[in-house]
Formats: sequence, structure tokens, C-alpha cells
Amino acid sequence: MSQNNFKRYTITSALPYANGPLHIGHLAGCYVPSDIYVRYLRSLGKDVLYVCGSDEHGVAITIKAKKEGKTPQQVVDQYHEIMKGSFQEFGISFDHYSRTSAKIHHETAQGFFKDLYDKGEFLEQSTEQYFDEEAGQFLADRYIEGTCPKCGNENAYGDQCEKCGSSLSPTDLIKPKSKLSGRTPVLKETKHWFLDLARYQSFLKKWIIEDHADDWKNNVLGQCRSWLEAGDGLQARSMTRDLDWGIKVPLNDAEGKVLYVWFDAPIGYISSTKEWAAENGKDWEPYWKDEDTKLVHFIGKDNIVFHCIIFPAILKTHGGYVLPDNVPANEFLNLEGEKISTSRNWAVWLHEYLEEFPGKQDVLRYVLTANAPETKDNDFTWKDFQGRNNSELVAIYGNFVNRAVVLTKKYFNDVIPERGELTGYDEEVLEALAGFPEKIASSIERYRFREALGIVMDLARLGNKYLADTEPWKVIKTDEARTGTILNIALNIAANLAIVSEPFLPFTANKLKELFGMDEFKWEESGQPELVKAGTVLGEMGLLFEKIEDKVVEKQVQKLMDAKKENEAANAPVPAMKDIITYDDFAKLDMRVVTVLEAEKMPKSKKLIKMKVDTGLGHRTVLSGVAEHFEPEFLIGKQVTMLINLAPRKMMGIDSEGMILMAEDKDGKLKLIQPHEGTASGSTIS
Ligand code: MF3
Ligand code: ZN
Repeated sequence: MSQNNFKRYTITSALPYANGPLHIGHLAGCYVPSDIYVRYLRSLGKDVLYVCGSDEHGVAITIKAKKEGKTPQQVVDQYHEIMKGSFQEFGISFDHYSRTSAKIHHETAQGFFKDLYDKGEFLEQSTEQYFDEEAGQFLADRYIEGTCPKCGNENAYGDQCEKCGSSLSPTDLIKPKSKLSGRTPVLKETKHWFLDLARYQSFLKKWIIEDHADDWKNNVLGQCRSWLEAGDGLQARSMTRDLDWGIKVPLNDAEGKVLYVWFDAPIGYISSTKEWAAENGKDWEPYWKDEDTKLVHFIGKDNIVFHCIIFPAILKTHGGYVLPDNVPANEFLNLEGEKISTSRNWAVWLHEYLEEFPGKQDVLRYVLTANAPETKDNDFTWKDFQGRNNSELVAIYGNFVNRAVVLTKKYFNDVIPERGELTGYDEEVLEALAGFPEKIASSIERYRFREALGIVMDLARLGNKYLADTEPWKVIKTDEARTGTILNIALNIAANLAIVSEPFLPFTANKLKELFGMDEFKWEESGQPELVKAGTVLGEMGLLFEKIEDKVVEKQVQKLMDAKKENEAANAPVPAMKDIITYDDFAKLDMRVVTVLEAEKMPKSKKLIKMKVDTGLGHRTVLSGVAEHFEPEFLIGKQVTMLINLAPRKMMGIDSEGMILMAEDKDGKLKLIQPHEGTASGSTIS
């Protein structure tokens, strides 16, 4: 079916796990591309529904909860709100953002499970699964780690190796280890319900490899082929798990079992649609069931098998649902040459970006699209961010629009001037202008957003060149009418630019909309030579883009380096225990609570602070290498612990009569060791 035969569009983007804030990898992977696509369709006046929501089940959530000492519910409540807010701020224009803990979702997912169960689609199998005897729990998916049998990566998960991308089951792992206790798990029998994917093999093969050979992306087809053409065919996959967090398996003999997160999550698209329909007085069913609905799933590459193989198999078996027309998956975005990692804090977090670059959402959207990992993994660097902002957004787009607007203000009092007789060059430029929308649309419709954005920028370049060639700032001296014609054309190029750039740069396009008093972005109106009419008074526009200085991006790089250092320190092992000593050895130490009476920096020393302390046995002078950690004023009056029978030691000409005890963090930070308040100076420590 060609583009125009679809009556409505259901566009989804992967439900992000509610286990951490969003970063640029999320945006680049599927949210910016899907938003571009949806804004384009809306501008065409299509009936489009764009749904998403938080993925709140699975081991990703329970592991995070354990790490933070919270309940899974607390974790998902917290991140659901943060993620929803970030999407909104970046203009990701979902019609509805739901969450998989919603009641309607539990019911919908259970309904699907029950339907497949009643049709006899599941293989009910008791198999041996890894069990952690210390934790008293079966180890599903990411609760287990070990060595990947395919590539030797020692940190492969029970469900997947992130290094080579293989999909695994826990029993494939070499040297499996429990993430809960670190112990080697034992095998224990448990019953589960498996989807027998072999039954769908020939259908999937035809549907994907034959029917979609021409319109699906190569990276997606490649992964599908490796699944569908593997020698031993598709394996049965368990759709249930032994966990206490998730959607209960709706069967009588399934105590303590929940649906596999990858069974329930994609159904979340449907639940989100139902919720949207209920809130807006709409019917959800056409968006999922009518043959003239075009369903498109935007995802990252690690989600391909679930959206191309497992979910379609579920939809097909259930029956009555359309299958995706396309699944445009992106590859990964790296950051400054390294894999983005939430746990290692190697990321650009969206909520932090918003604070540090307020009002610059479009800059990030632009950079992430211009450098989108559409066909291969790509790298985000702050240098590239700065370069694209300064030499593309500021120097081309911003400069062009600004010049046209400023000159109109100056020469024509903010009124779009009349267009007089056109020169051959004018006509050439207007003809070129007319050809842009179709070229951009064609790239968008083929999910080549990077290419499409390049063409949008070519239109801005055309405008820039037109002004540079016609030089209205010179012409004004001799020919006002000709100047008017030039600016009329330039402003029309700018108005067209607003429409075709809106899917990519919605905040900027809105400023242009205000400027020209346009009422809506209508793609079909773009390309016209007289989109805005002479006599129109220009409104306020505000600054479109501004230069980003070196020190701004240097600070961001520094921030990443600091985060890395901090993380390395946090993950560094605590020092190993020293050799065993006897009680007599210990009893030789005379440690006391002392009170700091005076403290001052030692002149000519970076490290030393000289203190006078009350030991209860008299006053003593001690030198302590803590000047890089504390201000002298902070120490005065504090009670601390001190070893008082250490032989005096001369430092910088002064006898230090003892040693103040300190606790040292793994990252070398010092903390005072203090008794409870009000302990008398001289109290012994033993
Ligand atoms: N939460 C998954 C991830 O972040 C994506 C789920 S997509 C859905 O990888 F289809 F299952 F919703
Ligand atoms: Zn591997």
C-alpha cells in the first residue's frame, strides 16, 4: 500500500524503562525520529496517533529498586514523572504517555495471555532454571550474569550479551553468577509457558524477508534474517517469569509467576491507545485493527527481535490486529567515543541539559538528527555539538532569517514589501524553492531523517546565498522597489523554511510562525512562491540561535571526566584488610577524644594545618595534612579522635605531638571521626 492509501497512522516509540532519567541516547534512538515523522504527518493533515509510556516491569526495575533501597513502585513513580517531563520539554509530541502499571494495561496484557492460552498456543514446560539459594529466588534475565558463549564477554546478562548483541537464555551463560548474592546459582525445576516461535517461522519469513525486503531498513532486515535463517530455526521462548514484580499470570496454577516483561511491554502501546481513547471520547480499535491503519514502531536496535518477531507473532496469533508496516530501528549513539552508560554516569542527561542550555532544545534535536545513528553507531561529541550550532544553525539558518527580518524592519518598517518584476535569478530561486518540500517529504517517508534535515538546511543555504548575491543593503541606496522584491522573496523562503523545518526544529519554527502570523503548519502549502503576502506586518520573533563559546563545551567535557572519575572511585574496591594483630598490639595505642582549640594554615605549606588541642592531659600542638580538605575555622571547637602516644615528629620546624585520626573515602576524601556530642576531652577510646 502506498503512503496515501492509509487512512490513519498509529506511531509508537519504545516504552523506556522507568529505572533512570532519560539521556541523549534515548532521544537519538527513537524519540526524536518518531516525533519528526509524526509532526510531518500532522502537518499533512493526517489522522495520526502517537503513543508511548513508561515500561515499569521487569528486572531492570527491581534491580534498580534494590540498589536504591526502595520499592519497585517507588522507583517507577519517581522516574515516570521525570521522563514524562523531559519528553514534554523537548517537544516530543505524544498524544498520550501512559505507564504499564496502569490497571488498563494489566487487564489488556492478561487478556492477550489468556487468549493465546485458550487457543493452546503456549507450550507448558517444567524446566530447570537457575535459582539463588541464598536469596531464595529464581534468577530471570538480568538477575544473572556470566560469560557470553558467543563472544566471551564476561559481563553478559541472562537474556542478552550487550557486547555482541546475541540474545541468550541464562543456561547459555558460562560461569553464571547471581546478581543478588554473587553466588553460583543452582538449577531448580519450575513451570513456565513458552511461545512456540517455530510455528510462526514460515509466516514471519515471508512477511519480513519477502514482503518487506524493499522498505525495511537494512540493519533491521539483517537482524531478522539472522534469526529467521538460523540453522536450528526459532526457539520457543518463555513468556512468564518467577518474579514478584510484574503482571500476574492469569491462570490458577501460576502462583508467584508474572508475565515476561517483553510479553507485556509492547502490548503497552495498545493499552496507551485505549487510555487515550477513553480520555478523548475516541474509539481505539480502528487504530489497531483496521487494515487501512499504518502502524510504525520506532525503536533502538536492541529491541528489534521483540518488535519484528515476538510481538508480531503475538498479534498475528491473537488475530484481528494489523502488523507493523515498518520498524525503523536506529543503531546506538555513543558519547565522546564511549558507550553511553547509565550506571557509569557516562551520559548527557536531558534534565541537566535543560538546566544548562535553557531554551536550546532545538539545538540538541538538530545535532541528534544531523548525526543520527540511522545506519551505524555514531558518536556525540561536544565539539561537534558546538560546531553544528555555530556553523550551521547560527551561521546558516539563523543568519539568513535574521538578515531578512532586520532589513525589512530597517527599510520597510516591519511590513513585508510588495514584489515587483522578477529577474531571471529570482525565478530560478523560486523554482528551486518549489522543489524542496517534495524532496524533504520523500526522505522523511523513507525514514531518512538525517538526509531530510540536510535538505532543509540546503533551503536555508539557498536563502542565505540569495541575499548574499542580491545584496539588498547595497541596492537600497539606488532602488527601493527592487530591494522590496528581494526582501519579499527572502521572507517567503523563510516562511517556507518554517513549515519544512517544523518537524525537526519545532521551537524555532514556532518563532517563525509568530513572526509571520501563520496559523498552522500545513505541509501542502509549502513550496509556494507567495506563502506570506505583501503588506503583512511582521510580529516579534526573538532570538533563534546564538553562538556557543568554547568554555561552555569545555565545561561539559570536564563534567563528563569528573563523573567518570567519581564513578571509578565509587566502584573501586575498599582497601583489603591488613594483617591480623594481637590484643596487646592494639592495647598499645592510646587514643583519646580531644577538642580543637586553635587551627591555622601552616605558612608555605599546601597541606598542613597546625592545631592546638585539649587532650584532657594538657594542651598539645599537632600538625595534620588536612588543609586541602578543611578550612581551619571549620576545625576550631570540633571534638575529634587522636592518637596521643605517637612519638613526636618534627615537621617544618615544629614538633607534632600526636596524630588526629581521619576516615578516608575510597576517592581520598577525608572525614573527621567525631564522638557523640559532649564527650569530655581526654575520654579514652578502646
Ligand atoms: N523498555 C525497553 C527498553 O528500554 C523497550 C520496551 S519497548 C516495548 O529497551 F515495546 F516493549 F514497549
Ligand atoms: Zn557476546
